[in-house]
Amino acid sequence: MFLEKHRPFESVAAIRAAAERFLPAPAVSLLDGGNQAGTTASANARIFDEIMLRSRLCQARHEVCTKAQVAGFAASLPLMIAPVAAQGLAPGAELGQARACAKAGIPLGVSNFASVPWRELTDAGADVVAQFYWVDGRERMAERLARARAAGVTSIILTLDWTFPAGRDWGTPAMPKALGWREALEWGPAALSRPSWFLPFVVKKSMPPLRAPNFADSVDADPTFPGVMARWKNTAYPRWDDVAWLREQWDGQLSVKGILEPDDAVAAVAAGANAVVVSNHGGNDMDSVVPSLAALPAVAAAVGGSVPVMFDGGIRRGADVIKALALGADSVLLGRAAAWATAARGEQGVAELLGLFDRDIRQTLRSIGVSSVKELSVDHLRQTPAFKGLAGAFAGEVPGQK
Ligand SMILES: Cc1cc2nc3c(=O)[nH]c(=O)nc-3n(C[C@H](O)[C@H](O)[C@H](O)COP(=O)(O)O)c2cc1C
Repeated sequence: MFLEKHRPFESVAAIRAAAERFLPAPAVSLLDGGNQAGTTASANARIFDEIMLRSRLCQARHEVCTKAQVAGFAASLPLMIAPVAAQGLAPGAELGQARACAKAGIPLGVSNFASVPWRELTDAGADVVAQFYWVDGRERMAERLARARAAGVTSIILTLDWTFPAGRDWGTPAMPKALGWREALEWGPAALSRPSWFLPFVVKKSMPPLRAPNFADSVDADPTFPGVMARWKNTAYPRWDDVAWLREQWDGQLSVKGILEPDDAVAAVAAGANAVVVSNHGGNDMDSVVPSLAALPAVAAAVGGSVPVMFDGGIRRGADVIKALALGADSVLLGRAAAWATAARGEQGVAELLGLFDRDIRQTLRSIGVSSVKELSVDHLRQTPAFKGLAGAFAGEVPGQK
């Protein structure tokens, strides 16, 4: 037990297994997410197997450059942590992420539903990328943008791909209305079977309520997770002119997340986005939409280098990052991998995760004989017909944009 606790993680698979051992089963299921049959969620990761790397001999470099601009920040690797809600399941989670990211020089995506206020995360030294959903309409959005700015936020992501899907074949765990005593008991045997998760709450005699402090505004100074969800459901879905309006309100970096179609990428750029994020919400929104890797080449071609292309969905190892960059991404986001690392070992877990990616990205660059992430292109890949079938005509020719 002691040895296992202190042995560094060897892979994201090991991190996932440790998170599963620590969290109660409903929490694991919430983080795993996926919707309906889970087709898109699992295809996101599986489709990386349809892309293979071309190894080159006698071209390995000792020094490789992994630096990149990510969401407006200079980063040590071409990646950032994706905004993921429900981190309050592991209390203080975002703070641990912020500290690990600050040390590693990696930006931190912060969900609109984060359990910690932006200011605590910027004070921890993190390059915070605050994610926003379109909730309550323009007036309230403007207030929250001003609060973000006052908290030291300079870069935001607007996520547009949420339509309140429902119904999972394997059942949706009841989301506790707050992390209180009653809810913990309602999670019952599952919670009690994970004493190392449950006991710290007992010892502290405080269960952190599921708050959503970054939704605070003049109408609701102390919003709860379920309270905001209810308001969000009553908000009219945003339109591109709302995005253009938001652009006018925000003078910092604006990335638009949830892009799968080339036309939407073009619309986002026309509305003033500084970056587009190819993403299907990790398969948590509409099931059966295209795996995001297959959407990437056409989006990169449509954007044509006018703004950076960010990517997420299914990234579990450094070679996945290399494949996404070769298909046209400039940087990638880590969703579940980071959530599992946070649940498994907090700040230390995230630090180990980023260390694994650093190791793997460098090693992969050496194997394929490339000295910088900026040099990657489709020439470094072989693609199966299955991938080309989904990705369409652009799979073979991603215009240079780096
Ligand atoms: C449990 C969970 C919660 C999420 N919450 C948010 C969120 O609050 N805002 C957002 O923009 N995306 C959210 N996402 C999507 C992630 O930002 C990201 O797009 C996705 O997880 C990437 O796929 P991956 O998990 O396979 O890396 C969430 C994903 C999961 C799994």
